[in-house]
Amino acid sequence: MRIIPAILAHSLDEFTMKVERIRPLGQLVHIDVMDGKFVDNTTWARPQEVREILKGLEFEVHLMVAEPRKVIPLWCESGASRLFFHPEADARPQEILDLPHDRCHIGLAISPNVPAESLPALLAKTHDCIVMGVQQGWSGQQLIPETLGKIRLIKAMNHRVKVTVDGGVNLKTVAAVDKAGADAAVMGSALTDADDVRAVWDSLAPFRN
Ligand code: DX5
Ligand code: ZN
Repeated sequence: MRIIPAILAHSLDEFTMKVERIRPLGQLVHIDVMDGKFVDNTTWARPQEVREILKGLEFEVHLMVAEPRKVIPLWCESGASRLFFHPEADARPQEILDLPHDRCHIGLAISPNVPAESLPALLAKTHDCIVMGVQQGWSGQQLIPETLGKIRLIKAMNHRVKVTVDGGVNLKTVAAVDKAGADAAVMGSALTDADDVRAVWDSLAPFRN
């Protein structure tokens, strides 16, 4: 699996501090964007400043916002390589996937309360999805056990879909997520709050590709 360090920050200072903690890993970075409407939490994440701070690192953006279509162009221009939005946050999610986005790839983020069975038409248009392992809004939550079955189900529904699990992945749960067939796992607090980020990263070696 690919392991993708996540940044969820409430201020420029917190954002910068967390980026500096995970920068030495040299990985694709997952940026959490929350607007206080789609979820109760609000994050600091300004597209152009994010781009500057992350210079030299590839990044993807997880939009936990209402009406994602309004901010997608800005984030595409910021240099993000992938954007994920929640289909229930838009009246016509299919349209977002149909639009041409030259600069970045658009994928779906699937909340715990959105059943996989409701998604085949959307998944056929993207081949890239995040399966939430927790109710979106906060880091440091426990993995919802049903996530593992959902990964298997989505992979069985469409073999071409790449599944990234987001939320609740840590040293205790990473083996189960890997075994369930995830292509990638986002890891937030287990890395950014660790006393020794490198030691955690090294112990993930058996699960990383
Ligand atoms: C949850 C966010 C996740 C979160 C991951 O709403 O989308 O990306 O930051 O944090 P951990 O790994 O601590 O669950
Ligand atoms: Zn996320």
